[in-house]
Amino acid sequence: VYIGYLNVKLPHGHCGVSNDLQKHLERITSVGPRPTGSPENEVLTVNFLLEQIEHIKADSASGPNSVTVDVQRPTGSFSIDFLGGFTSYYDRVSNIAVRLEPKAGAQHLMLANCHFDSVANSPGASDDAVSCAVMLEVLHSLANLSTPLRHGVVFLFNGAEENVLQASHGFITQHPWAKQVRAFINLEAAGVGGKEVVFQTGPENPWLVQAYVHAAKHPFASVVGQEVFQSGVIPSDTDFRIYRDFGNIPGIDLAFIENGFLYHTKYDTSDRILTDSIQRAGDNILAVLKHLVMSEELADSSEYRHGNMVFFDLLGMVVVAYPARVGTIINYMTAMATFLYLFKKCSHPSNVGGRYMKELAYATAVVILSWLVTLLTVLIIALVVSLTGRSMFWYNDFYTCIFMYGSAATGTMVLIHTLAKNLYYGVSCVCLCVGELYFDVSLLLWCGALVYLTANGLCSAYVPMLMVAFPLTTKLLLAREFKLRGASIKYSVLYQLGLALPYVHFMFLIWVVFEIFTPILGRSGTEIPPDVVLATLVTLTTLFLSSFFLHFIYLARSTKWLLAGLGTVFTVFLVLVLCGMFFPYTADPSGPRPKRVFLQHTTRTFHGLDGQVKSRDSGLWINSFDYTGMQHITPIIPEINDTIRTSCQEDRPFCGYPWFLPVKFLVKKNWYLPAPEVFPKSPIEFQVLSKEQTKWGTVKITFEVKVINYTLGSVSIHPVILLTLFPETKETAQGFHHEANGDFKTVRV
Ligand SMILES: *[C@@H]1O[C@H](CO)[C@@H](O)[C@H](O)[C@H]1NC(C)=O
Ligand SMILES: *[C@@H]1O[C@H](CO)[C@@H](O)[C@H](O)[C@H]1NC(C)=O
Repeated sequence: VYIGYLNVKLPHGHCGVSNDLQKHLERITSVGPRPTGSPENEVLTVNFLLEQIEHIKADSASGPNSVTVDVQRPTGSFSIDFLGGFTSYYDRVSNIAVRLEPKAGAQHLMLANCHFDSVANSPGASDDAVSCAVMLEVLHSLANLSTPLRHGVVFLFNGAEENVLQASHGFITQHPWAKQVRAFINLEAAGVGGKEVVFQTGPENPWLVQAYVHAAKHPFASVVGQEVFQSGVIPSDTDFRIYRDFGNIPGIDLAFIENGFLYHTKYDTSDRILTDSIQRAGDNILAVLKHLVMSEELADSSEYRHGNMVFFDLLGMVVVAYPARVGTIINYMTAMATFLYLFKKCSHPSNVGGRYMKELAYATAVVILSWLVTLLTVLIIALVVSLTGRSMFWYNDFYTCIFMYGSAATGTMVLIHTLAKNLYYGVSCVCLCVGELYFDVSLLLWCGALVYLTANGLCSAYVPMLMVAFPLTTKLLLAREFKLRGASIKYSVLYQLGLALPYVHFMFLIWVVFEIFTPILGRSGTEIPPDVVLATLVTLTTLFLSSFFLHFIYLARSTKWLLAGLGTVFTVFLVLVLCGMFFPYTADPSGPRPKRVFLQHTTRTFHGLDGQVKSRDSGLWINSFDYTGMQHITPIIPEINDTIRTSCQEDRPFCGYPWFLPVKFLVKKNWYLPAPEVFPKSPIEFQVLSKEQTKWGTVKITFEVKVINYTLGSVSIHPVILLTLFPETKETAQGFHHEANGDFKTVRV
């Protein structure tokens, strides 16, 4: 049984599919880390994949479709913003391209992309071996179809993504099949297992989203994710960018997002990927590819190019999708309805002298003030936590941050509104009216967000649209009940039912946000206090979720008990956190939460301008990827303490370190522990061949580098070379950088 035929759910782990997929995954990861350039990557994995592909080819030879395999070893270079001005140069990286097409040939191709290389310290099961395993099976099913395909598919197994995005560049700029590719699907990972989510689609080309919507068996997608990802707050990039920017091809970017704590660590092993999630990914990709390969749009995608789509799934069951133009109309209509509703209230006979308007403005001010005070309060708490060295206490026990920051935020909100209720509206207040007033304020504020996002052309405006449309409709339907009996039990229950759909969807989005951002805070560098970020997220969540429940504070008889409860929870957690009860990291095998430290054994030689050796030393260059620095390491390894903290040597290139991480602005603290010289002494040979002045005033340098792979005990070492040319004086630095995009290259082999 193969994934293509799995319309009926099979018992997990018992069918041919999962076993085959799992077997592929285990074979690929069994060789260990596969950094580009290593024999594990270039020989063992390449051979394994070729073997499997040959097998598939033989299996389907009698069918109506043909399979052609091409191993490409491209050499090239490019520069993208993400590299921070570096030019990435690659030399004979590996691409295995498999072309599946009807025997009569195909003019238009779909591209499916995965990468089989991994970072040097990880078996890379989810990033990205599992996608290659899935692609093998999808290839197998499609190749075996008894009907001819309409268009062709290129399955690209690429062997150089991590270092950075090189093989895909080699394919799309140099491979003869690339010109026929009309669209692509990219399979990636930012986490380990779980559901795979549509990260981004486009640019434009709504038909791609439609294909996903129609075909995917277990859809999981929201245009919010796409707009967040494309805004650049997530410090990461995928082959998607290469295909889009160098190939001008639209596509779909899919990625696993759960458990990002293990992404790029040694814990990214095949046994952590549940059969469920492979199965789901396989089902989806096969269905979507099949749909696209049979589709009309692929042949003439330029016809269908324009426009964006609003899309989101409801609990993973259905995907709602409509063109952005329709979305704009719906959004403005919803906003109009809100204004009509409010206008009607203003023109009510009881509204003498614009009393209602005044009250509404005043209540809006109270709500906004309560937001600001709440945010400020929680931020102060987060700062106290950071300053007392208890940062990231929630990294291992996530619930603690909800209890601490969540209770602080909710408590402050309730307190402020209770004060407003008692002090301003007084005992004589007509609570029903005030309650209703605050409902209107929430409506107004969400409506403001709706109009703002829509006016800025953001498809994410559908979220405030839901948050306006559903409460408003519910309110209007329940108006009679409310008038007759006030906030009765029946009213409250029905009201909450009416809010259920947008709230559940909204909470689902929030869950994804926390799922993605919490692990990222473990690698967001030493400069941004993660508690401030997380506390802000928790507070915003509280503010958003509380909006349509605020008016219950005014309807309630008393909030004393609520406040006492929240205060107690907060105090208890504050004390526990400050006492250091929660340690951020764990090696618990069932759910490890490793701390990320970058440790590089280096030997540095500094030369003067005349080539003379000025100084030379060796050491362990240590960086923390998170805010806690060496704080938790020093007690265990006393040598790594703050006496070996070093600061940037401004007069030296890269502050005197061998190179900069691409995230240099985030990882600023350096520790340098003296160590014996790197062995063997010189695994590279470097020689300047010539240096000549060009007639346009630049210098052309030709040089040769030889890399020697060698073995140390049982470990084979594959040096990565970073060559950087520096301007001779600070004055020429400006011009130099300009030139660096032209004749000069920072070369990374
Ligand atoms: C493909 O077809 C061959 C021969 O018809 C069959 O033996 C094999 O099991 C099929 N594989 C799949 C994946 O359907
Ligand atoms: C701090 O580190 C230095 C260098 O590694 C070491 O000599 C020193 O003893 C350490 N200090 C403590 C208090 O352990």
